[in-house]
Amino acid sequence: MLELKNVSYTVKAGQDSYDDRDHDIIRDLSLTVEEGKLIVITGPNGGGKSTLSKLIMGIEQPTAGTITFDGVDITRMPIDERARLGIGYGFQQPARFTGMKVSKLIRLASGEKHMGAAACNKYLSAVGLCSANYLDRDVDKSLSGGELKRIEIATILARNPKLAIFDEPEAGIDLWSFDKLTATFEELHRTQPDHTILIISHQERIMQMADEIIVVKDGQVARRGTRDDIYPTLMFSKNQDPACGFTRAAESVTY
Ligand SMILES: Nc1ncnc2c1ncn2[C@@H]1O[C@H](COP(=O)(O)OP(=O)(O)OP(=O)(O)O)[C@@H](O)[C@H]1O
Ligand SMILES: [Mg+2]
Repeated sequence: MLELKNVSYTVKAGQDSYDDRDHDIIRDLSLTVEEGKLIVITGPNGGGKSTLSKLIMGIEQPTAGTITFDGVDITRMPIDERARLGIGYGFQQPARFTGMKVSKLIRLASGEKHMGAAACNKYLSAVGLCSANYLDRDVDKSLSGGELKRIEIATILARNPKLAIFDEPEAGIDLWSFDKLTATFEELHRTQPDHTILIISHQERIMQMADEIIVVKDGQVARRGTRDDIYPTLMFSKNQDPACGFTRAAESVTY
C-alpha cells in the first residue's frame, strides 16, 4: 500500500540548514509497507524517523525518489490531499490550537460536524482521558504535554485513516495511560485488518506488538524483520562514541 523508492531528503546550506553545510537526512531509502500491518520504526535519535514520516505525510518534500500510496504517486501531493487519500499523522510534538475546543477538534477530525458527546467520549477514553474534564477545554498552553499528545492521538482515531502514523505516541504519557494506549493500538489492529499502523517508538511494549520492526539509522533502513528477528538484536550495551570529543563513554542502545 505504501512504497518509497530511492527517497532522499537533503537540507541545503543557506536554505533550511542550521549551518553552512548540506545535510543528507534521508539517503536513498527504499521501503514497502503492506496493507494491514502494524509496523514499528525504531532507531537512534537523529536517525531520520520523524523526517521519514513527514515525507510520507507531505510536510517535507523529498529531494529525490518517489512515494506511492495505494498505487497513486503522492510524491508532490499536498498534505490535505494525502489526508483525503487516507494518511494520518500524529506529530512527535503536537501543535496547540488556541481558541479551538477539544470537542471541535475531534469533530473536525472525524468529518462529522454534529458528532455527539458520547461519540467524542469514545475517542478520548481510548487514550485514557475523561470527556467530562476535556471536551470544553481549549487546545492551548493550559494543556500539559501528555494531555496534548493524547488529544492529538484521539483526533487520529476519530479520523480513522487507512494509514495511521504515530510519532512516539508514548512520549510524555504516564504508565496508566500508556497501558490504555497500547490496548487501543492492539484493538485497532485486530478490528481493522485493512488499516495499516506505523508507529515510531523506542518502547519495548510497543515493539512487542509489531508484525515487523524497521530500524532507521543514518537516514537509511539499517535492518528490517519480524519482531522475533529484530527485537533481540536491539541490545543495551556500553559504547564508546568516537564521533564525540566530549562524551567518552556513553551508555546507549546498540541498533
Ligand atoms: N534544518 C535542518 N538542518 C540540518 N539538520 C537537520 C535539520 N532538520 C533536521 N535535521 C537533522 O536531521 C536528523 C534527523 O532528524 P529526525 O527528527 O528525523 O530524527 P529522529 O530519528 O526522529 O530522532 P528522534 O529519535 O530524536 O526523534 C537529525 O540529526 C536532525 O538534527
Ligand atoms: Mg523523531
